[in-house]
Amino acid sequence: MAWNDYRSSPPPGTALGHKDDLVDGSARSVLIDSGKGGFPVLLVASKGLIRAFVNSCPHQDLPLDYRSSDIISADGSMVLCSNHQAGFRINDGIGVLDLGHDCALDVIPITIDADGTIRISVAG
Ligand code: FES
Repeated sequence: MAWNDYRSSPPPGTALGHKDDLVDGSARSVLIDSGKGGFPVLLVASKGLIRAFVNSCPHQDLPLDYRSSDIISADGSMVLCSNHQAGFRINDGIGVLDLGHDCALDVIPITIDADGTIRISVAG
């Protein structure tokens, strides 16, 4: 499913947060009020990368950080779902560990403004 197939997905250009609020090696969940309901977003910062995913694990559609916010792998390469430890590459959301195999996170394409605001990419 693509990020913009969700009923509550906000329009391109919507601000999701600010890069200065992210600590490298961590994830932060935010709920965006799109006017069509709350849209759950997981912002991830690791090894200088910033990524955004729909905060819903494809295994059981639970928030990835439902049981813990400590969901970045020790080597900084994966999001590890806090529910049953499915692993997804931070770079592209592809499932690479345990229950994550054969599925993927829904990547939200982002751009970062000069002032550090993270937005859904207009081009995406
Ligand atoms: S809900 Fe994520 S691994 Fe089960």
